[in-house]
Amino acid sequence: MTTPLSGRDLLALSDLTPHEVALVLDAALEQKAAWAAGDHSAPLSGRAAALIFQKPSMRTRVSFEVGCARLGVTPVVLVGEGSAFSRGETVADSTSVLERYVDAIVIRTFDQSFVEEIARVASVPVVNALTDDYHPCQGLADLLTIREHKGKLSGLRFAYVGDGNNMAHTYLLAGALTGMDVAIATPAGFEPASHVIAKARKIAAGTGASIEIGVDPNAAVDGADVVATDTWASMGQEDEHAARVAVFDDFAVNPALMARAANDAVFMHCLPAHRGEEVLDTVIDAPSSIVYDEAENRLHAQKALLSLIMG
Ligand code: CP
Ligand code: NVA
Repeated sequence: MTTPLSGRDLLALSDLTPHEVALVLDAALEQKAAWAAGDHSAPLSGRAAALIFQKPSMRTRVSFEVGCARLGVTPVVLVGEGSAFSRGETVADSTSVLERYVDAIVIRTFDQSFVEEIARVASVPVVNALTDDYHPCQGLADLLTIREHKGKLSGLRFAYVGDGNNMAHTYLLAGALTGMDVAIATPAGFEPASHVIAKARKIAAGTGASIEIGVDPNAAVDGADVVATDTWASMGQEDEHAARVAVFDDFAVNPALMARAANDAVFMHCLPAHRGEEVLDTVIDAPSSIVYDEAENRLHAQKALLSLIMG
């Protein structure tokens, strides 16, 4: 059975239209409820997916492996040096071989251009499981989580405080696609990439979303319905950790910052969190923190995505 997203790649959230994002979220809600109600049918039985990790992972790996298992898809995990795209083999050769075995390629790597190159060659769907630029699967899970907690997306005020990294980029696109007002505050020099801001603003023009980029965490969080942050030093930036902690000190999400948000604001973090750095225990352990729901929804959002693109 084909679906409206059969065969499609997800390299960044901007690969989806606002309607297609809603389609994935609807499917995720439906499949999550069906699974909880005891419907354990495996609609993609007999298929296989390669899950390639060139950076560390816990949540993404486990949620994709379990999601595949629930769909009837055999997950083939390729981790570490020498497992895939190595030994001098060209990207085209590796991809052309992989797609003879598997029905989807999920990859976590460094350069966005690398997943784009794989997607150009592959005739099977390619899913970005995090690059230096984007984390679209996390974006879908986070949208699902916000929708569950707030009952809507359009019109919400979403604040992100911290590094202008792959998560900031993902939230810019996620907010733009769903009609949220996104306010981002980063230290000067750590803003999101200008091409991503431009892309988000272009999408926002069609959805009623707004995009604000600044350097004042208080201004970003004032009245926000959702407050999110992420690590100050992403994977691959470990050597910069100490220097970044010094620069980002004023961007920690603490109770005083959360108090500026709406009374019923929720706190989000894709995890892993660095407690005492970008977020304090008193925020991430508060009842308003929905970080574990967010982590759980990785499973439901990705399972829905795979069922649509592999269907
Ligand atoms: N949030 C997330 O992607 O976690 P992992 O790095 O553990 O996969
Ligand atoms: N920005 C973080 C996200 C981890 C899930 C990183 O890239 O390391």
